[in-house]
Amino acid sequence: MNKEEFYKLLESRKSIRRYKEMPVQREILDRILSAAMQAPSGKNRQNWRFFIAQGKKRDEYLQYSQKSWQGIKDVLKKRLKPSLYEFTERFFYTLGGAPVVIFCYSQNSSEERYHTSIGSVYMAVENLNLACLVEGLGCCTMGAPLEIKEEVDRFLGVTEREDYKKGELELLCAVVLGYPDHEPPKAPRQIEDRIHWLE
Ligand SMILES: Cc1cc2nc3c(=O)[nH]c(=O)nc-3n(C[C@H](O)[C@H](O)[C@H](O)COP(=O)(O)O)c2cc1C
Repeated sequence: MNKEEFYKLLESRKSIRRYKEMPVQREILDRILSAAMQAPSGKNRQNWRFFIAQGKKRDEYLQYSQKSWQGIKDVLKKRLKPSLYEFTERFFYTLGGAPVVIFCYSQNSSEERYHTSIGSVYMAVENLNLACLVEGLGCCTMGAPLEIKEEVDRFLGVTEREDYKKGELELLCAVVLGYPDHEPPKAPRQIEDRIHWLE
């Protein structure tokens, strides 16, 4: 891939919220997870922890996704035009038919600053987003599960882990993914006040 292709790839990434009814092969999932883990991390602690739901577990998660919608729908009602609001509601109810949900956790230990741990996991999440793109997959990173964080923790069974019991394991987001079944417009980027060159 040359320079232009690389920048074009970054530009072409969009959140996908409708998916084809097509499973994603395990070897592809292995590749995108391994791409995620190429990310830098504070003190190289690689403190990302991924929990992957497919099939029955993914289907069971739908009720939690629907519940998380209740927590954010009022804010979105004010922000989105009606057609987009309805589309988003449908997405939360169905996850757009995405066959795979990757729950991304941070293992925050007292040896690392809190925000560094969190940031490291999000670097991995972006790698994951980009790996989906090169695999012909689409994905959508979702902060919505945080609305019902503890319930999701219990649903996934992470509450049984020692690091969770010590209060070190924290859900940051879910990434839903699959083969795209729509081509959404590019969400516009803003420039104002984003970059400040210092003299
Ligand atoms: C941390 C984070 C949380 C997000 N949470 C949600 C979410 O809960 N539901 C959703 O539909 N999209 C979610 N998104 C996707 C954003 O809405 C999307 O990235 C943004 O609108 C820009 O669009 P684009 O990804 O197509 O460029 C989230 C993205 C990030 C990075």
